[in-house]
Amino acid sequence: MDFRLSEEHKAVRDTAKDFAQIHLKPGVIERDTHMSYPEEGVAMMKSLGFMGMMTAEAYGGSGMDTLSYVIALEEISKIDNSASVIMSVNNSLVAWGLEEYGTDEQKEKYLKTIATADQIGCFCLSEPEAGSDASKQRTTAVDKGDHYLLNGVKNWITNGGKAGIHLVIAHTHPEKGHKGINAFIVEKSWEGVSIGPKEDKLGIRSSDTHSITYTDVKVPKENRLGPEGFGFTFAMKTLEGGRIGIAAQALGIAAGAYELAVAYAKLRTTFGKPIIKHQAIAFKLAEMSADIEAARMMVYRAAWLKDNGYPYGHASAMAKLMASDVAMRHTIEAVQIHGGNGYVKEYHVERLMRDAKITQIYEGTSEIQKIVIAKQIEGDNLQLPL
Ligand code: CAA
Repeated sequence: MDFRLSEEHKAVRDTAKDFAQIHLKPGVIERDTHMSYPEEGVAMMKSLGFMGMMTAEAYGGSGMDTLSYVIALEEISKIDNSASVIMSVNNSLVAWGLEEYGTDEQKEKYLKTIATADQIGCFCLSEPEAGSDASKQRTTAVDKGDHYLLNGVKNWITNGGKAGIHLVIAHTHPEKGHKGINAFIVEKSWEGVSIGPKEDKLGIRSSDTHSITYTDVKVPKENRLGPEGFGFTFAMKTLEGGRIGIAAQALGIAAGAYELAVAYAKLRTTFGKPIIKHQAIAFKLAEMSADIEAARMMVYRAAWLKDNGYPYGHASAMAKLMASDVAMRHTIEAVQIHGGNGYVKEYHVERLMRDAKITQIYEGTSEIQKIVIAKQIEGDNLQLPL
């Protein structure tokens, strides 16, 4: 087993790190305060090829592997988690879903524009009454012959205001339960699509989160993804990869907070010595270091499984569960190590602490990850190739 990164992976890491430090860090506090979208950062992620990292070059993507994507997300998430979730949703939930399950025509028309980030995408599954219990979709798509008529409301949609392309999950045959669900490609410009106000959130405040209402939207038949009734499976499979992205984001948050805490503990002195010399602080840093490394192994391994053609739903749920808990626990500790300074914006750790919380919620709460993992255990389907 070789734990070293390849030269290509190191180059991705260095590029992402420089980009985050040079272009995202200045202004990140102001954007967070004013909920301002990272326009320039997203434009740069587009030019760096980060918005379609895993998409084949034939469709305008960078053709890189999942591990590269994870490494880039980790570095960006140390600095700006609004930028990293914009990137993650576009890559994992929209581009991947289109590439894996779209027809040639759908890929030509929609994947190219998403992978190049000429338009960005959003993934519309959650509803006021269907967050964790994803099969209880109230949004309906009634079959009208040559088109479906889409009606419903979607909530907490990342990229919801900016996205030109929406992947929308809806019930066509509610009487069939999850087997009556379909996924559709919907264009924002179509009549009947209306975007609600931007959400005022605890963390990831500059990311673009909205509710979206669809009123009698005519969706052409050719815009259904996969065969009739495939929508729930489409959502579940897409989320399996999405969770690797959010796990990488959580890892980056934890690692970013740790790096800030170490630097601060070396500089700050109390009782005549740098606080890193006090065991109360040193033990916290030691625990952070060990937990972050464990989370990193799980996140990288989930990416490796995906890249090597193994099942990865179980590993991605475990990685997200672990990394998001590590992020939450250790951003709190990073604030504690910073003392009073940790509580003010200038030192960045309070923002990382607020950002950490969402990684335990979106793309399935920690409790949902446990359900996913437990179902695999119950079915003796641990998906462990090694
Ligand atoms: N792959 C393929 N099929 C799957 C699957 C998977 N990963 N998971 C479930 N299925 C199939 C099952 O095999 C079953 O099929 P059959 O009936 O043919 O056997 C069917 O789907 C139903 O399975 P379950 O009975 O297990 O489904 P459930 O209704 O109990 O729900 C759940 C399972 C895991 C809890 C699911 O509802 C879930 O993942 N909920 C969380 C949803 C979520 O993550 N939402 C996040 C929104 S997106 C977001 O946050 C993006 C953002 O903005 C950042």
